[in-house]
Amino acid sequence: MQNSRQELDAILTRFKGRHGALIPLLQEVQQLEGYLKKDTLKYVSEQMGVSAAEIFGVATFYSMFRLKPQGKYVIRVCKGTACHVSGANTILNAIRENLKLEGDEDTTEDTLFTVMEVACLGCCSLAPVIMIGDQTYGKLTPEAIPGVLGKFAK
Ligand code: FES
Repeated sequence: MQNSRQELDAILTRFKGRHGALIPLLQEVQQLEGYLKKDTLKYVSEQMGVSAAEIFGVATFYSMFRLKPQGKYVIRVCKGTACHVSGANTILNAIRENLKLEGDEDTTEDTLFTVMEVACLGCCSLAPVIMIGDQTYGKLTPEAIPGVLGKFAK
């Protein structure tokens, strides 16, 4: 923990006095801690003399920033045109149902999986396609989802 705080301080020191560098600063902080924790953002605000409102504004505006922890495995569900017409929505629904994700939740309670929708993954002939980590799964059906996810469950 101590090391993490020291690393955070080192990042803040490098960015001190660099106005307008909030985005790269937050990117580095996110890289360090995996996501942007509320307490960390408050600390950044105090240390950098930037209002919490501005920092939270940037952190919530850009989709690259995460305010919640990300799962061990990231499931990228392709919503590109080819996958869309091949039933990407039913695949997404099957995944969310299987992982018991509700509402706008994107990460399972045990933080094993995070689900995100992405644009074309570049292998349209395999539509509908998902990626889990760096593994690609194509020509999926909703029925195949439990088996695919089961490979990653503990
Ligand atoms: S549209 Fe899904 S891989 Fe291209």
